[in-house]
Amino acid sequence: MSGLRGFARRAAWSAAVRLGLQVYEPSPENLPRLDEFTEYVEDPRPVSDDRATTATDDLPDLTLLPDALGEVLEIDRFRGLRVLEVGPKYGVHARWIDEKLEPSELVFSDFASDQHLHAKWVDGLHSKHRFVYGDLRDARELLELEPFDLVFFLGVLYHSIHHLPLLGMLNRVTKAGGSMLLETTVDSRPDALVRLRWHPDTGKAKGVPSIQAVRLELAWTGWRKVRRFTGYRPGTSEALFLCEKTDELRKGADLADVVTPHRPR
Ligand SMILES: C[S@@+](CC[C@H](N)C(=O)[O-])C[C@H]1O[C@@H](n2cnc3c(N)ncnc32)[C@H](O)[C@@H]1O
Repeated sequence: MSGLRGFARRAAWSAAVRLGLQVYEPSPENLPRLDEFTEYVEDPRPVSDDRATTATDDLPDLTLLPDALGEVLEIDRFRGLRVLEVGPKYGVHARWIDEKLEPSELVFSDFASDQHLHAKWVDGLHSKHRFVYGDLRDARELLELEPFDLVFFLGVLYHSIHHLPLLGMLNRVTKAGGSMLLETTVDSRPDALVRLRWHPDTGKAKGVPSIQAVRLELAWTGWRKVRRFTGYRPGTSEALFLCEKTDELRKGADLADVVTPHRPR
């Protein structure tokens, strides 16, 4: 039987190539293993953000309408805790966090080149706050702070090709059991790939993951409990996840122990 199956497989493969079709072998992605080692829930609750694009009435782009934040985060659970937001840009989410969650400290990570945008809203914050400027991957100052209970990582991941170092850094600065709200553009295909794109107008490099690729990246960097809100902008290429930190990354390790590294430490 197995010889027959192998023959049928090779025949289908070569016929597909002759027909000019793309042939794709999904088994190395090992999605059963992902299911075995992670907890993944698709949460269909309504999220009042069904915009077709990130444009709003006032802003050229915004990932998630701030009112929808209270529909995916339990405000009482996160009130008065330590919060990190990466890439606050126009301060729309920062203002919501400040008012609704009243964090004990609100820390922002961003490139210094966005300082002029931050200057427009930072004086309106009531909570204790600070900025850590520079690439999040190398933001050592964040590692020296008391770890965070909640991280906002909205609309940042796919702008970078360095997904694992970014998610790994966020793991290291978050408390065990802490949460991360992650929003990213995704590729709708069912594989587990990160597609590298060279934007035709801006020339920028982007790394756009599929949903399964996001799940793998999260599992490898110590975020193995994931809830995806399927009511968020359905039919678009945007996805929203609430993730829980489940594993500590060892000193010097890129990945959690759940995955075998290419070379032993
Ligand atoms: C498209 S904006 C998202 C703005 C906002 N968070 C939202 O949800 O609409 C991406 C932001 O992430 C910041 N960013 C991108 N890569 C980063 C990195 N490696 N370290 C720190 N900030 C980064 C950019 O400066 C920018 O402010």
